[in-house]
Amino acid sequence: MRTQVAIVGAGPAGLVLARMLELQGIDSVVLESRSREYVEKRTRAGILEQPTVDVVHELGIGDRLAAEGMAHDGFHLRFDRTTHRFDFHSLVGGHATVYPQQKLVADLIAARVSSGLPILFGAFVKGIDTATGRVTYERDGHVHELDADIVAGCDGFHGVARTAIPTALRRDRSRSYPFSWLGILANSTPVSDEGMYCAHENGLSVHSMRGPAVTRQYLQVPEGTDLADWPDDRIWDELAVRSESHDGAPLDRGEIVDRSLAPLRSFVSETMSHERLFLLGDAAHIVPPTGAKGLNLAVSDAAVLSHALGRWFATGARDALDAYAATCLPRIWAAQLFSWTLTTTLHRMSDDPLDARLRFARLRRWVESEAERTALGEVYLGLPFPSRWSHRWNH
Ligand code: FAD
Ligand code: DHB
Repeated sequence: MRTQVAIVGAGPAGLVLARMLELQGIDSVVLESRSREYVEKRTRAGILEQPTVDVVHELGIGDRLAAEGMAHDGFHLRFDRTTHRFDFHSLVGGHATVYPQQKLVADLIAARVSSGLPILFGAFVKGIDTATGRVTYERDGHVHELDADIVAGCDGFHGVARTAIPTALRRDRSRSYPFSWLGILANSTPVSDEGMYCAHENGLSVHSMRGPAVTRQYLQVPEGTDLADWPDDRIWDELAVRSESHDGAPLDRGEIVDRSLAPLRSFVSETMSHERLFLLGDAAHIVPPTGAKGLNLAVSDAAVLSHALGRWFATGARDALDAYAATCLPRIWAAQLFSWTLTTTLHRMSDDPLDARLRFARLRRWVESEAERTALGEVYLGLPFPSRWSHRWNH
């Protein structure tokens, strides 16, 4: 089999890139190790930046997002039992939109299938030859080969694509944090009409939503936590303690329908391409989830690569392709800085009282200073993408 672009992984990065290429008339084959049902059900991100929403509409797959997405102007922040509302919309314009990642993934898969374009589920990629563009994968117990001009490694943090770059050429920057997020999806009423972060001495809690009667909430827990030690009552009690206030309604409890643990990590593979291979999304970088940037970064990487590929296939000019990492990295580092700042301010970082004083000094500055809130809001609602996704629009 031969194609112009082999796309490894049908997460947001791979599927958005596939759609952008389709609209520019470039062939691609998507290889995904899991089943369609699995990727359409995986509960993960939920907050889309304004530039991400704009691109979804440009890609012609935004009908369900327009009908079901919930636009938010900002978020609430609670500490010292007091709630503060950060209205980023009034400061910088634009909105954040709550729309579950798995719905976006399902919308993109439906569009690909209805265009009759190849997307192979249960196709586990085992090797990528970066010099020739040959991808080897296993499907139904057989080994297959796909030859491509370009390979897009969109296979997440634990995928194989990054490891195809020789170690000597890799420039990885990495930090892990000594805590994880215990996330739940529950049939309960959201505590407010927008998301809320609570900085409590026991640690962070996050109170988000997926609909008027469905909540998505997170608790900071120590690394190495076992979900078995967190029965429903313990989760609800801790969410209630951390979000207790003198100015808000008490937390509603309900049936927990999904739960998971996610470790926190800041990671950037600054070598984002090698020969015919390009890395996108979580394959190239991980942000801690505080601030909800991961999915959005995957989409902005796809826009940069799509533009560069469009230009290369149409004109033979390699300049944008050669500049791929240099174009993506400033926005990636801006999101890393934002996620690190939110993470280190909202979590209990250590037992050191100096840490606590600094965190609360920063929280107070955010509340007191419109300039601080404007700077936060610019990144929260989404910095502009580094380039448009089609080469037909010159940037
Ligand atoms: P993925 O979504 O991980 O997709 C990679 C795909 O590649 C997968 O489908 C995988 O099965 C496939 N794959 C892997 N290996 C192979 C192989 N060898 N062969 C073939 N296929 C392979 N981000 C936000 O922006 N906002 C949020 O609110 C947010 N909340 C989050 C909450 C949680 C609990 C978690 C875990 C993440 C959250 N994120 C959030 C991050 C976001 O989900 C990721 O950044 C996003 O999924 C990255 O997309 P991706 O396409 O790069 O990778
Ligand atoms: C959600 C995820 C986040 O990482 C975050 O910071 C806020 C909300 C969510 O899943 O809704």
